[in-house]
Amino acid sequence: MNILSVIGARPQFIKCAPLSRSIRKEHTEILVHTGQHYDPEMSDIFFKELNIPEPDYNLGVGSSTHGEQTGKMLIEIEKVLAKEKPDLVLVYGDTNSTLAGALAASKLSIKVAHVEAGLRSFDRSMPEEINRVLTDHTSGLLLCPTKSAVLNLEKEGINTGVYNVGDVMLDALKYNLKIAEEKVSVLEDLSLNSNEYMVATVHRASNTDNSENLSSIVNAFCDAGVPIVFPVHPRTKKYLKHHGLWEKLCEKVKVVPPLGYLEMLKLMAHSRKVLTDSGGVQKEAYMLGVPCITMRENTEWVETVEDGGNILVGAVYEKIMDAIFNFEGEPETGNFFGTGNACVNICEILKSMSVSYSS
Ligand code: UD1
Ligand code: UDP
Repeated sequence: MNILSVIGARPQFIKCAPLSRSIRKEHTEILVHTGQHYDPEMSDIFFKELNIPEPDYNLGVGSSTHGEQTGKMLIEIEKVLAKEKPDLVLVYGDTNSTLAGALAASKLSIKVAHVEAGLRSFDRSMPEEINRVLTDHTSGLLLCPTKSAVLNLEKEGINTGVYNVGDVMLDALKYNLKIAEEKVSVLEDLSLNSNEYMVATVHRASNTDNSENLSSIVNAFCDAGVPIVFPVHPRTKKYLKHHGLWEKLCEKVKVVPPLGYLEMLKLMAHSRKVLTDSGGVQKEAYMLGVPCITMRENTEWVETVEDGGNILVGAVYEKIMDAIFNFEGEPETGNFFGTGNACVNICEILKSMSVSYSS
């Protein structure tokens, strides 16, 4: 098959690395980067360290409001689809790049495959939730990472083309953890000892754009009494400065620029606990067996909480502090995301489809 993959934001580069490698063994892949993320440490670094092929198209869409950003992507992706005429469009996750890819393809009657289908936080105030729901309802192939994702789709009447394939992020983690352990010197570079620090990430709009929430998070990090390493997302840096919190944070916390995936993996693997509002980081902490404190009111990765490895604390100072000191998060099963074979499973499905395409 001729498969066109749309990526554009940091987590999509990480998810596409193992799947793109597998797909290219049997199919032709055209890679489209929307340009949603464009800083070298939000984009180029992942292509280099994960050996992701150079995109065939970079649409250079950049940052703007949701409507403008998604609209520009839609216009540009449609032009590429009209030229390349792929058999299938592959989209990942829940960003504006995901939705634009799915909409552009479905309006041209091109089948859409959604990797990470069926996730729901049931919070429609999250832009990502809107992207997830709309993408799933325009997709013909729904590649779910978990059983609960399949059930979520069933409840919305989506029953055909649905597969539980496992999580491609586990494939990425398994492939790269050993490389990270051997090659990366981030602990030495930041003068950290294993299990004597915590790592934090924050970028969710509900935390960054709200000064009260961001200030509670910063205060908790400053009072944690343990070194916190905080690779700061560009969105968060902008709002930390805007809300007058940047200097205070930098005095008490190890603030660093966004890190590469290998550095991030090694940092998380040796961290006492992880503090985050990221979807991907919640899962990775769980997969690594590191207790995760999630600074959100809800999560689409419900298994990590139900299994005891993750706790939801919102952006509430007292709850964050309590979890920093008391949450020990030991997952009961530690096994909700498959076996690290998601890419093989997806390629099996694509293979059976390509038979019907060629006949
Ligand atoms: C986006 C996704 C979010 C995902 C996250 C991963 C949407 C709606 N949101 O959020 O689901 O979890 O990516 O990291 O798609 N910026 C830069 N340089 C960059 C990229 C962004 O400076 O390379 C700044 C700009 O000021 C921009 C802001 O970050 O306005 C937000 O970027 P954007 O891509 O709109 O959303 P994210 O918060 O990154
Ligand atoms: N990540 C990274 N460097 C960082 C922060 C995160 O490589 O400085 C990785 C992280 O390990 C995970 C992915 O980025 O694989 C998660 O992306 P992000 O938190 O930006 O988005 P989300 O998963 O919330 O959509």
